[in-house]
Amino acid sequence: MTDYKAMFDLTGKVAIVTGAGGRPGGIGQAYASALGAFGAKVVAVDVNGDGAAKAAEDLKGQGIDAIGVQCDVSDASSVTGMVAQAKAAFGKVDILVNNAALMLEAIGHPLCAIPLAEYEKIMAVNVTGPILCAQAVLPGMREAGWGRIVNQLSSGAFPAQSVYGVSKLALLGVTTTLAQEAGRSGITVNAIAPGVTDSGAGLTLRENPSEYSKMWEMMCPLSYRGQPDQLTGAMLYLCSEAGSWTTGQVIHVDGGAVMIP
Ligand SMILES: NC(=O)c1ccc[n+]([C@@H]2O[C@H](COP(=O)([O-])OP(=O)(O)OC[C@H]3O[C@@H](n4cnc5c(N)ncnc54)[C@H](O)[C@@H]3O)[C@@H](O)[C@H]2O)c1
Repeated sequence: MTDYKAMFDLTGKVAIVTGAGGRPGGIGQAYASALGAFGAKVVAVDVNGDGAAKAAEDLKGQGIDAIGVQCDVSDASSVTGMVAQAKAAFGKVDILVNNAALMLEAIGHPLCAIPLAEYEKIMAVNVTGPILCAQAVLPGMREAGWGRIVNQLSSGAFPAQSVYGVSKLALLGVTTTLAQEAGRSGITVNAIAPGVTDSGAGLTLRENPSEYSKMWEMMCPLSYRGQPDQLTGAMLYLCSEAGSWTTGQVIHVDGGAVMIP
């Protein structure tokens, strides 16, 4: 008989989570803890090196085998070095969670007025970064014949709002494209689109809610705001054997906000 619990077991797997060492209460930290709780060894990556090191210490305190690595995901050589450190520590990479992004820096920037340099910086981190990370891990995953990539989108992409939404919708295109390119090698590539989440960064969005977000709050079937831990179930499904026949998909974990017309 099938061991259904084992389908979620990540013992022996090595997972990279980007954006796992920033503000306290970040979604990346929750993802890293959840992967570790199901047995994965975790590489906590962040542009903030001290934050990445602290995230790894916190994970070790939870009994999880982890390292912290400083990396700017928008820089190809930084990404190559990060994956090399992951392999030096744990021998391979099975799972990549592309969670790092510029969010507070990008939300509310009207596309019609954003200076080109700012636009390019946001796209470099939010779109090119996940591509660079995927390119760096895919050869090893192809060799192993198994791999999982999860890209962090946002309800802000459905429909796309501001430059942030544009970047996250572009990441959906990256997701479906990589899913098609890598599927024959036993690699799935999917996305999670969280709604407004009370991470450290998300909490700051509470301060000045727009009329638009107040309207959504009233119309949302479940709570309009979620907690980082409420995203981890979808992520674990997509990273494990349980999600082995799911690729190129978006799971909307947003209290039903995506249904609001
Ligand atoms: N909080 C929300 O309401 C919400 C909703 C939908 C989607 N998201 C997405 O979830 C993810 C995590 O968001 P969060 O709320 O924890 O915010 P956050 O700003 O705390 O997390 C982003 C992380 O990415 C890191 N980062 C930024 N630039 C980087 C770079 N160049 N290289 C490596 N790391 C870099 C930051 O240091 C930070 O740790 C993001 O992709 C965000 O867009 C958040």
